[in-house]
Amino acid sequence: MTDNWTTLRELLLPAATAGGRGRAVESALRTAIRDGQLAPGLRLPSSRDLAAQLGVARGTVTAAYGQLTAEGYLTARRGSGTSVASSLGGPVTSPTPVPPARPWRYDLRSGLPALSEFPRAEWVAATRSALTELPDEALGYPDPAGLLELRAELTAYLGRVRAVSASAEDMVITHGGAEALSMMTAVLRTHGHTAIGVEDPGHPGQLDLLREPGLRPVPIPVDAAGIVVSALPQEVRAVVVTAAHQFPLGVALNPARRHALLAWARSRDGLVIEDDYDAEHRYDRPALRAMQAMDPARVAYLGSVSKTLAPALRLGWLVLPPWLRAATVSRKQLTDLGCSPLPQAAFARLLRGGGYDRHLRRTRTAYRRRRDALLSAVATHLPSWQPIGVAAGLHVVLRLPDGVEDSVVSQRLADHGIHAPALSGYTRLGTYPGLVLGYAATTPDRLRDVVREIAAIAR
Ligand SMILES: Cc1ncc(COP(=O)(O)O)c(C=O)c1O
Repeated sequence: MTDNWTTLRELLLPAATAGGRGRAVESALRTAIRDGQLAPGLRLPSSRDLAAQLGVARGTVTAAYGQLTAEGYLTARRGSGTSVASSLGGPVTSPTPVPPARPWRYDLRSGLPALSEFPRAEWVAATRSALTELPDEALGYPDPAGLLELRAELTAYLGRVRAVSASAEDMVITHGGAEALSMMTAVLRTHGHTAIGVEDPGHPGQLDLLREPGLRPVPIPVDAAGIVVSALPQEVRAVVVTAAHQFPLGVALNPARRHALLAWARSRDGLVIEDDYDAEHRYDRPALRAMQAMDPARVAYLGSVSKTLAPALRLGWLVLPPWLRAATVSRKQLTDLGCSPLPQAAFARLLRGGGYDRHLRRTRTAYRRRRDALLSAVATHLPSWQPIGVAAGLHVVLRLPDGVEDSVVSQRLADHGIHAPALSGYTRLGTYPGLVLGYAATTPDRLRDVVREIAAIAR
């Protein structure tokens, strides 16, 4: 016991003598328990004794004991004093640290905007204003469909920039496009759907998400005009499309195909899920209206801030046909009782004050410069590699000469610290060899450097 108490004193003394911060003893004691330096069940000295040993006020030790008892690190029993908790069944260790992601010298994976461009000051201002203005009731359990003021701002914004035809009642706020898609597929399952069409090539992560509620993803080929509608098989009544900018090939679904797809959906009481994941980023072509505008009863439209602001916000939305709305809202209620109103309120203010439009204007200019730097470097150093889908978005596909194995090229680049995913990883039906390269998160100078290096490695 004495030895243990000596150890305890040695562990806590530096914190006690450092002075200044009243919580230092509490924090040192918590760390010692977490790290297993104090055995579970160990009886601690009385607060009076420990205070005397450490030369601190008794109140400092009682406060520390009280707090750590409340947190479950200590147990206090009348008559037997305070002990290190044993209920956790062994030393309370810190969570195993997650190994750091591979430190790529150049990370050209697609899907990330320039995180360094996140409008931090505007977001702080919008959050402050939201916290100041939101009534206390807004801090209770939220509306599972989402904060009404955000739904109103967003439907107005989407009407303006994407011609989406909706009112706030048609919208459900989600944790990103991923949750939107996941909820949609769960609702379709309850409507008797067992399979769902997906573009091929397409987003590999999407497949697991669709499978989880029990739907079978059926790959549908994509050509230069977008998804091949005539290839949709009989058993499929719903399909996910990236109509504005096909992921990853970057083609736009052409008008004839759009009409054909909607006619297909109408003919079988079906649904088109329009994943409008990066439509704000467009450089050399006029905006294409969202398909949702062509038939709001047959299209569920989804979007998020992941490609415009930051994926970490986990903020997305669904615009639903009336026949899907109630089931989707109750799904959201069942899953997590709704998204947090605070980021929603901040985003609503960013939209209302024009900060979102300003941010998009700024980043569009930066992304165009990055894309141009990438394309001109490719033209100079890799003239036989053909860029595809360059007019919009945050990534391009570089088509490799036929016969080249893109996974071998990608692996060789990875060996040199360059993350450049192979197109073959995005397809089950097979397509030409290529690399899917995101450029938005890399500066023009670094893009020029990496293309030069890729050319040298490829040679
Ligand atoms: C094609 C596509 N759809 C949807 C998403 C959805 O992302 P989030 O859940 O972050 O909105 C992504 C993200 O990479 C994507 O690439």
